[in-house]
Amino acid sequence: MSAPILFFVDDLAEGVSTAASAGRFHQADPAAPQINVMDLSVTRGDGIFETAGVQHGKPMAIEAHLARFAHSAALLDLPAPKLDVWAAAIEAAITAHSPAAMLSAKFIMTRGIEGTGVPVGWVYVFEGDEHERERENGISVVTLDRGYRHDVAKTSPWLLQGAKTLSYAVNKAVLREAARRGADDVIFISSDGFVLEGPTSSVILLIDGRFVTPSTDQGILAGTTQADAFAALESLGHETEYREVVADELGRVDGLWMLSSTRCAAPVRELDGQAVPIAREITDQLNDALLTRTK
Ligand SMILES: Cc1ncc(COP(=O)(O)O)c(C=O)c1O
Repeated sequence: MSAPILFFVDDLAEGVSTAASAGRFHQADPAAPQINVMDLSVTRGDGIFETAGVQHGKPMAIEAHLARFAHSAALLDLPAPKLDVWAAAIEAAITAHSPAAMLSAKFIMTRGIEGTGVPVGWVYVFEGDEHERERENGISVVTLDRGYRHDVAKTSPWLLQGAKTLSYAVNKAVLREAARRGADDVIFISSDGFVLEGPTSSVILLIDGRFVTPSTDQGILAGTTQADAFAALESLGHETEYREVVADELGRVDGLWMLSSTRCAAPVRELDGQAVPIAREITDQLNDALLTRTK
């Protein structure tokens, strides 16, 4: 595996003054200690992040990732990230990495060291996990209660549902719960019975001849991969729809996928112990389209 690349983003957000000597961003050693132990990302998980897939040196859906990054910052009352600087830092970090068919570019902005009010940001480019087997063989999934109603983002925005925060301990815990149940992944169901998303992915169902994804005003992330998947499906002549999906509908799908930036579209082959049909042709078409995106 080739060495990861780290760039710190110095001129990272509106209204944040940087040292006169600082440039826009700079490279640093990812193997050396870099983060202060009192950074609020370390002590509180207080910050935001994005992970973009990088195919043959190009970051995929980067505009959408940057827009979601800015949206998350606003939800957390963080200063607005300077997206042009972030885009340039991401580009520079990718260029500094040795070439590979697929890389991941993770970018993070924390609230910074407690008491300073100065955010800290960096870009980390690395070779992520290989997802070919999931795309090919499908995954086994369980549904788990998220414990919030589907309208939580509207009624209780302070819970930050729909922001991509660094507080992913829950998202990791549910994967351990899935493993205890013999499954690979999780689809969250709201406490009032609506299908939401996975802990690191969006969900698409093929039902009644249409490709459907839960509408993104339900405290879930607007998936960049799901959006590109819908564009690909539409160009193949399929109908797509954003709407509320009740959990019972999962029991009568003709295809079900979990999608995220480097995984692309993993078909679900088993849900809560019941077999789910793998729509092979459309799965392959989807992944062909997602893996050959040019932007
Ligand atoms: C909670 C959650 N939902 C959905 C997604 C999928 O987003 P994207 O397709 O932009 O990677 C992610 C990605 O990590 C996620 O963490």
